[in-house]
Amino acid sequence: MRRALPLLLLAACAPDPTAGTLTWHRDVAPIVERKCGTCHEAGGVAPFTLKTLADWSTYEAASLSAIREGRMPPFPARQDCAEYAPTQALLPDQRAVIERWLAEGRLEGSKDDFTPLPQPPDKLTRVDVSLPMKTPFTPTKSPDEYRCFLIDWPFTEPRYITGYELRPGQKALVHHADLFFLSPSFVAEWERRDAADPGPGWECYDIPFGREGSWIGTYVPGMRGVDFPEGTGLRVPPGAKVYIQMHYNSGGGEVGPDLSTLDLRLETRVKHIAGVQALSDPKWLSRQMRIPAGKKDVTHTFDIDPTPLASIISEDFVDGRPLKLYATTMHMHQLGQSTKLEVIRADGSRTCAVDIPTWDFHWQLAYTLKTPITINPGDQVSVSCTFDNTAENQPVVNGARVTPKDRNWGARTEDEMCVGGVFVTQ
Ligand code: HEC
Repeated sequence: MRRALPLLLLAACAPDPTAGTLTWHRDVAPIVERKCGTCHEAGGVAPFTLKTLADWSTYEAASLSAIREGRMPPFPARQDCAEYAPTQALLPDQRAVIERWLAEGRLEGSKDDFTPLPQPPDKLTRVDVSLPMKTPFTPTKSPDEYRCFLIDWPFTEPRYITGYELRPGQKALVHHADLFFLSPSFVAEWERRDAADPGPGWECYDIPFGREGSWIGTYVPGMRGVDFPEGTGLRVPPGAKVYIQMHYNSGGGEVGPDLSTLDLRLETRVKHIAGVQALSDPKWLSRQMRIPAGKKDVTHTFDIDPTPLASIISEDFVDGRPLKLYATTMHMHQLGQSTKLEVIRADGSRTCAVDIPTWDFHWQLAYTLKTPITINPGDQVSVSCTFDNTAENQPVVNGARVTPKDRNWGARTEDEMCVGGVFVTQ
């Protein structure tokens, strides 16, 4: 018995045979380059560069707390809701590598050992048409400005969009963008709004609903474009127009003109025609989405079986057939607290598609499911948004926090929205 203690101590002190082997260049730099450097780059959206060991050393304390608390890289959705296609989120084993490298004493290693992480498929693989904004636009409002622009659709035959990438003219200025196309019969109406506002584009918070048009996707900083799921594409008829809604954020600094470009991958036919639809309760649109001043945890929920209305989502869908859900994008304004989109089965069970426990207005990401969810006739798609209208959660305008007042649905910045964007096929 007397010998047991030293033996135990010896075991505890025995060196881990794998310890001391991780180096910056071989193990950590590829992760930091891929998961941080896409935004933390010169001229990028983030406030400092994060690529080299010197960068890391300067920002290590802040970076570690941002990583450990899940603020960075930005990925607000719960990862236990559904499995997603590769994202910018840091994977648990990548996090573990960073922690172990620190614990082992932050070895630098040799530059020759650097191998970039394999290119993930979150990238537009081919560009068939580039559609730039017609005229450059210089934001005049600080720090935030919302501006919509129409771009002519150059084709006289139907084309299918099978992937997109928005290339911001000014990466540091474009905070996010929502991309749509308008159906030909609604183009004139939106052109009137454009004409009513002087300068390129018009101030806007609206997005096209129902038959007005279709969402193509969203842009958030750091994103490099996406190919849509294999075999799927959005049908754009001749006479349509591209509609881009830009959210510029100047951070209060100097701004120059932005001329962003939408790159698209196109096909002349696809196996599965896709539709993207913004799901919201029609009642909300007539200002029945009350969010009383001073209240938090105010939840509005909309359940709908979209299958009988499939032909609204896409002219090519047949009402009453099952739909396949591939991806979601949620949209609220600044009082958003949390949001969720799930499928409620006829038997009451629920399939989670996206669950954002802490809404971050700045990170309105698209979440592509690894395996599509089938929506059968009789199932309900449930879009739920919770708002916080207390004094602490008000936006700051011209340096002062706004006083809470009753809010409701609307397009202006002081109004709110609750939209579940879904990408589906039949
Ligand atoms: C998608 C773009 C993007 C990626 C990827 C990203 N960042 Fe950021 N980061 C930003 C932006 C924009 C800001 C400034 C605004 C903010 O704080 O949200 C920021 C701010 C920060 C800050 C200061 C604010 C804070 O929350 O502490 C730190 C530290 C940081 N990032 C570290 C990282 C690290 C480490 C990674 C990689 C593991 C990373 N970021 C990945 C965009 C990004």
